Amino acid sequence: MKRRQLLLTLLGVPVIGAFLYEAIAKSKTTSNVPYDPVSAQSPATSFNPSPNTKPATNLADANSEITLETTEEPLLRFAAIADNGFGSAAQFAVAKSMWETYQQKPYSFVLMAGDNIYSYGEIKLAKAYFEEPYAPLLNKDVKFYAVLGNHDIIKTNNGLDQINYKPFNMSDRYYSFKKGDVREGTVEFFAIDTNSNAEWESQLSWLDRQLAASNAPWKIVYGHHPLYSSGQHGSDPQLAAKLVPIFAKHKVPLYICGHDHGYERFNPIDGTTYIVNGGGGAPLYRFGKSPQTAFVSAQFSFMTFDVYQDKIITKAIATDGKVFDRSIITKTI
Ligand SMILES: [Fe+2]
Repeated sequence: MKRRQLLLTLLGVPVIGAFLYEAIAKSKTTSNVPYDPVSAQSPATSFNPSPNTKPATNLADANSEITLETTEEPLLRFAAIADNGFGSAAQFAVAKSMWETYQQKPYSFVLMAGDNIYSYGEIKLAKAYFEEPYAPLLNKDVKFYAVLGNHDIIKTNNGLDQINYKPFNMSDRYYSFKKGDVREGTVEFFAIDTNSNAEWESQLSWLDRQLAASNAPWKIVYGHHPLYSSGQHGSDPQLAAKLVPIFAKHKVPLYICGHDHGYERFNPIDGTTYIVNGGGGAPLYRFGKSPQTAFVSAQFSFMTFDVYQDKIITKAIATDGKVFDRSIITKTI
């Protein structure tokens, strides 16, 4: 086995898939959805979020028509993507949907949960796979906050090139930042490195300490790899063994990730809602479902989160701008 193949195998990347990714990415397909990120800066006229969009069937939506369609402005709104940096038609279609959603309901930043640049994380591809697709948002000064996926540590000085790439806004391999209220922050975000070669010992003690010290009303953790997933990669009991005790101790209500290419939201497990949000543009995976799955759909998508004092309303949004899943997250008691 060649050194590169060995490395990819160690990183959990199906070798054939990785080469396929590279081949497809190099050929950069043309979008079926006409989307010119430059001209897209003018207001869109085609996007019309349907007020009749039916909420997904899940426990949280029992009273959703009233609660989810509130006209009350959130304290904070943000978006999230993952597994997006592929340069594909699908990535551009998701980017278009993100832009059209932004024009209706602006958000000030985007969590980017890894596999930011396929296939090997090379920063020289950032222009084509990041700056171009999201140009309209970047031009509006929408910030992206990245974490390292398994593809982002291969030809990048183990991720250092991406950490040093300013538009990814990474202050380190793992870091936290507050958004919202100026003093305490409405939400404190904890961006973690979930790769197998992460600095696990120091990172876990940092996460434990920082969560304990945080005064933010909401504490949200995100990283690339799922603890729970019904996708091709599946759940990761070893990762869960590391993180679940910390999440439970500090009552973390939400963990957002990618890695499996599709969307899956779980009913809360030990008080935490887990969401796989990996439909950002790389080829989709097959998903099954587990007894704890609240909603699953292998499609290209991104998410928005409306943060209120007592709840967070999550929306999974398809390339046509339609919300195909929504839920309410409440604070873990
Ligand atoms: Fe991944």
